[in-house]
Amino acid sequence: MTKASAPGKIILFGEHAVVYDVMGIATAINRRSIVEISKGVEGIKLKDPWRDITIKKDYLEALTKKLENLIEEKNFPEIQKINAEDRNACQKFVIGHILKSADYKPFDLTVKTELRKGMGMSASVFSSTALALSDFFSLGLSKKKISELAYKGDVVAHGGTPSGIDNSTVTYGGYVSFRKSKGPKVLKLNKKIPVVIGDTGKPSSTGAMVSMVRGLRENNESVRKAIEGVEEISKSALRAVKNGNLEKLGELMNKNQDMLRAMRVSTPELEKLIKASLDAGAYGAKLSGAGGGGIMVALAKNRKKVAAAIQKAGGEPIITSVGVEGVKLVR
Ligand code: PMV
Repeated sequence: MTKASAPGKIILFGEHAVVYDVMGIATAINRRSIVEISKGVEGIKLKDPWRDITIKKDYLEALTKKLENLIEEKNFPEIQKINAEDRNACQKFVIGHILKSADYKPFDLTVKTELRKGMGMSASVFSSTALALSDFFSLGLSKKKISELAYKGDVVAHGGTPSGIDNSTVTYGGYVSFRKSKGPKVLKLNKKIPVVIGDTGKPSSTGAMVSMVRGLRENNESVRKAIEGVEEISKSALRAVKNGNLEKLGELMNKNQDMLRAMRVSTPELEKLIKASLDAGAYGAKLSGAGGGGIMVALAKNRKKVAAAIQKAGGEPIITSVGVEGVKLVR
C-alpha cells in the first residue's frame, strides 16, 4: 500500500487578481487530504467521501483524451458540462494522465479530506493522488510535475484556466508568492502567522465566481482598478510577511478586502464574520479563495477570542497553523 497527503491552502492576498497576472500570496494550512492506493483486482476502484465507483481503463483513456482535446480547443463550456455531470471527471483526468506513462495494473484508490470550499480541496486531492500514483507505479515524479498534474485537474474542476496558485501552494507547502507568468516562489520565513479561518458553510463555485469577475473586468473600470490595486497591496504584504509585521499585514488584508468588495465577490455572511473578527480585535480580515460563500481568514493574536466571535456570528471557526509541509508520502 502507498499513502500520500497534501495540505489545503488559504490565499492571504490576491485571489481573483492572480488570474490576471497580479501577485498573490498563499500558505499551506494544517488540514490535509490523504490518498491511499493498494493493489486491486479489476479496473480502478475509486472511493471518495461522495462516491464509490469502478472505472475501466479503456473508459479512462477515452475520457482523458476527450478532455485534453477540449482544453486544447479552449472549449470551457463543454468541460463545465462534463464536470457538472460527473463530479469525479477532474480526478479521473489526473489519473488518466499519469497512467499514460505507467505500466498499468489494477488498483484501489481511496480519498479522504479534512478540507472545505475555499481551502484548495481539489488541488490538494490531485497533488496527493499524483504523488501516491508516482510511488505506486515507481514513476519518480518531481514536485514540479506533480504541481502541473494538479493544475490540469483544476482546469477541469474550475472549468477554465486557474491561476495555478492552489496547486503550487499545496504541492510545495510553506508560504508561496505567486505570479501566473512567473510561477511560484517559496518564501523562507521563520515566523508563523496566527490565523483563524471562518467557514460560512455556504457553497460557491470557483468557476462561476471567476467568470463573473472576468465579465465585470471587461465592462467596468472600477473593477479593473480594484484588480490592478491588489498588486501594490501584495507587494507591501510580501515585505510585511517577511518582517513578521502583523499590524501592517492586517491593515493590508483589510485593504485587499475592499478590493474584493469592489469585485463583488464578498457576501453578507462573509462580511458578518469579517466584522465580528475585527470587532474582537483581529489585525485584519478578508475573504479567502473565490468568495461568493466559502471561507474568510482573520489575522489575530488572541485567536480564541476571534474564534468565539466568528462562532457567535454564525460561522464555524477553525484555528489552524499555516506554513506547513506540502505534498508528502505517509509511511
Ligand atoms: O476558492 P478556491 O480555493 O478555488 O480559490 C480560487 C482562487 C481564485 O484566485 C479565485 C482562482 C484562481 O485560479 O486563482
